[in-house]
Amino acid sequence: MSSVDVIKKIAVIGAGTMGHGIAEVAAMAGYEVWVYDIAEDILKNAMEKIKWSVGKLASKGTIREDVDTVMSRIHPSLNFDEVVSGADFVIEAVPEKIDLKKKVFADLDEKTPPHTILATNTSSLPISEIASATKRPDKVIGMHFFNPPPLMPLVEIIKGDKTSDLTARITYELAKKFGKQPVMVNKDVPGFIVNRILMKFMSTACWIVANNKASVIEVDSAVKYKLGFPMGAFELADYTGIDVIYLVGKAIMEKGAVIHPCPLFEEKYNAGEYGVKSGKGFYQYPSPGKYVKPSIPKEAGEKVDELELIAPAINEAAWLLREGIGSRDDIDKATELGLGYPKGILKYADEYDIDKVVETLERMYKETGWEEYKPDPLLKKMVEEGKLGRKSGEGFYQYPKVEERVLKNLIVRYEPPIAWIVLNRPAKLNALTIDLLKELGNTLDELEEDDKIRVVVLTGAGKAFSAGADVTAFVGITPFKAAIFSRRFQEVTNKIEYYTKPVIVMINGYALGGGMELAMSGDFRFASEIAMLGQPEINLGIIPGAAGTQRMPRLIGRSKAKELIYTGDMIPADEALKIGLVDRVYPPEKLEDEVRKFALKLAEKPPLALLAAKYAIQFGIEGDIWRGEAVESALFGLTFSTEDFIEGVTAFMEKRKPKFKGK
Ligand code: COA
Repeated sequence: MSSVDVIKKIAVIGAGTMGHGIAEVAAMAGYEVWVYDIAEDILKNAMEKIKWSVGKLASKGTIREDVDTVMSRIHPSLNFDEVVSGADFVIEAVPEKIDLKKKVFADLDEKTPPHTILATNTSSLPISEIASATKRPDKVIGMHFFNPPPLMPLVEIIKGDKTSDLTARITYELAKKFGKQPVMVNKDVPGFIVNRILMKFMSTACWIVANNKASVIEVDSAVKYKLGFPMGAFELADYTGIDVIYLVGKAIMEKGAVIHPCPLFEEKYNAGEYGVKSGKGFYQYPSPGKYVKPSIPKEAGEKVDELELIAPAINEAAWLLREGIGSRDDIDKATELGLGYPKGILKYADEYDIDKVVETLERMYKETGWEEYKPDPLLKKMVEEGKLGRKSGEGFYQYPKVEERVLKNLIVRYEPPIAWIVLNRPAKLNALTIDLLKELGNTLDELEEDDKIRVVVLTGAGKAFSAGADVTAFVGITPFKAAIFSRRFQEVTNKIEYYTKPVIVMINGYALGGGMELAMSGDFRFASEIAMLGQPEINLGIIPGAAGTQRMPRLIGRSKAKELIYTGDMIPADEALKIGLVDRVYPPEKLEDEVRKFALKLAEKPPLALLAAKYAIQFGIEGDIWRGEAVESALFGLTFSTEDFIEGVTAFMEKRKPKFKGK
């Protein structure tokens, strides 16, 4: 196969938890999907679950096609030959038994055309061994989805010993066509990237409790509130199923990963206390299958050293990087998207200081003598070279000298000539309160006065840019108060739209409701591939109140704006790009660098002429062309009074780069 465009028919073997989810993803991406399983009731059940899930995504506005159209592309069948014949790409998702998988792959090899790529969704078995059952190991590859596939953006693409680069590239492209974020795992190591790091982390957390250094709640509190992970370690084990964690850990260990098995998981597993599904795990639930968030107080984790919790996972990540198994960006993307960490594991390392990570590991190694705690040579080399992370300006990443101010709801990073304003209520998806908007307004005012700052970037911490106005503040609000809230919010958007310096909005995740409206007031919108945008107010029975009804039609035209505002649908970044709602889209790990590059380019331009250009465009569009042209010529004339104009012309004549001072 020469390119991903050849792929028309996809076959999924196995319609269980993962198989049906993968089939759904492929069908939503527009492919004809044939699904095989061994029993009628399994297929029936799978189709029902897919229908329910597609319906849910359609009602949330995440997908635009109707349910029947998507369903019409999925063909369940008990006839293996019918499913695989003529398939261009096969994804196998049968139970994790090596003999079974090898048998399936031998059959696939025999019954599919020679060009067909055969992918396995295994999470714990060696790709190369599965490939050995075929005569086309170059076309066998791992394609590891996460549960549930329709919601989890990450896919690990794993090369076996003989997988060709072309197979890897096509599979990577296919994952992108599925709307997923692939990462490349260059060597077939047990657990790949995500599970290796997860298992190191879970085992470390578990040993802290097993050694009576802290309780389950104390560890979970530190994980949630000090590390900022979405769930505590034991909360996550209960949620995922202790049986799953135990068995995945065991499988990885048996294949050679160095982990000392922590007895608590085994005890719970043997006692049948699997977590939420059995009503009891590390926490107690009202009844089997009924999930209630365990109560984990913030103060409980105070005495737990969170560095000890995360250091072994960092060590594992360093090993993966040094061995060339994953790139820095892919390892971080895998931990962010596969495990929901607010930042990648290597960024954590940089922020906790590499020397402190090494010291912690050395202490743990001394205490236990366990290989897995011995600091990886890469970490030690970094310490020797003075690459200690953010504090030294370089670690796994490079850090320009920045000064940072942490306010109540915002972080302001000074990186002259750029200032970054980060909305910082990540646990609430940066929902916008009056307090936050006030801080934002004041910060913008201060930065306006600061001559060293030429460009302002507005972005959000965590997985959202902003999911909109804080809905909890709407409860019991009177119509007049709501109108006043709207007015004050509009004023902040006006301040941004008419700001005297360029404002770039870096849309790192959700931009919904008021978040979308803030974003639309900036000069430019650069979005991450995983961003979702929309004006969902209609679903709350209200309408946009921060000038969304005004700016959106100006930006993308009346009908498109009406469609988004009337339906409340969320659209992904690539669709937003097509209709002009955002200006550029980048993979999440490249977004910040690209924004910085563009901001620096603008920062070199004459600030007063930039302002004149901005006002000419803004006032021109808001009035009629006669007034617009008048404003333009007045501002055109005004720029001739600046020193920067003289500098610009002089530099041109002297054939050098101009240096603009803003005077
Ligand atoms: N106002 C207040 N809180 C909000 C919020 C908002 N606009 N958007 C999200 N949150 C909170 C959630 O309540 C949740 O808090 P909790 O952990 O205390 O329960 C937290 O942020 C995380 O959100 P969650 O819904 O668990 O994340 P998700 O990834 O499953 O879903 C969204 C993300 C954005 C789809 C969903 O949160 C949503 O629909 N938000 C409301 C968007 C909206 O209607 N905005 C317009 C307001 S006018």
